[in-house]
Amino acid sequence: MTSTQHRKSKTSTATVDLRQVSLVYPDGQNPDGTQRTIAALDQVDFTANKGELTALIGQSGSGKSSLLSVIGALVQPTSGTVTVGNTSVRELNDSQQAQLRRDTVGLIFQQPNLLSALSVRDQLLVTDHLRGLRGAKLKARRTRAEELLEVVGLQDMADRKIHALSGGQRQRVNIARALMGTPQVLLADEPTSALDQSRSHEIMQLLQRLTKEFSVATVVVTHDTGLVQYADQQVTLSDGEVASAERLVSVG
Ligand SMILES: Nc1ncnc2c1ncn2[C@@H]1O[C@H](COP(=O)(O)OP(=O)(O)OP(=O)(O)O)[C@@H](O)[C@H]1O
Ligand SMILES: [Mg+2]
Repeated sequence: MTSTQHRKSKTSTATVDLRQVSLVYPDGQNPDGTQRTIAALDQVDFTANKGELTALIGQSGSGKSSLLSVIGALVQPTSGTVTVGNTSVRELNDSQQAQLRRDTVGLIFQQPNLLSALSVRDQLLVTDHLRGLRGAKLKARRTRAEELLEVVGLQDMADRKIHALSGGQRQRVNIARALMGTPQVLLADEPTSALDQSRSHEIMQLLQRLTKEFSVATVVVTHDTGLVQYADQQVTLSDGEVASAERLVSVG
């Protein structure tokens, strides 16, 4: 096999591709003074395809948030390879990683960390303001913000202040904000844990629809097994290892 063929055979078509990823944290000292460590992730292989929703499940402490942090280039793994889009994340310098986080990955947190005094529209534009965008460029971003608010069903709420929204509406703002950078990957860490049953299902249905419409690879951490039905793939972590990865036939 030539070296080119070899490289090709290793190339995956998945948008997110992790091979043998380990993440080891320091964890205090042993009684004899040696360093103790904890493996949050232990030789994890993981793929997520564009246009598909992956449900990531597992007990508390099994490594779910750690896995999202590695995919989103928020944390560097101790070993292994991480590919997001066509980019090998570990080969990027700090500013390239920051750019990847901004442009390629959309993050959706458990508690939407929104600025309550801002209008819904300004919440989507706040990073553009911070980056100093003005004039026509800012106007184009404003148009995009309004399109995305329509996509998540909040077209009439652009001028509403964040503090005057319900939990489910805030999570929709959060999702619209995550799409502002035209990401290839959406990462959501327990996006429904603060919501009631019926709101939770609505948010999962929305994430499922946007995954297809925007052709993103979406990874959703959830504790609620009733929400796995919206996923195309279910990956279970246990003690930092992949216990199972299975294809599902999603509803809808
Ligand atoms: N910054 C850190 N420093 C040290 N250990 C950490 C750190 N972050 C996570 N851990 C440890 O790594 C392991 C995995 O944690 P992680 O937060 O990924 O789990 P999780 O599956 O998201 O749990 P939960 O369902 O409770 O959110 C845990 O044992 C945790 O204590
Ligand atoms: Mg977690």
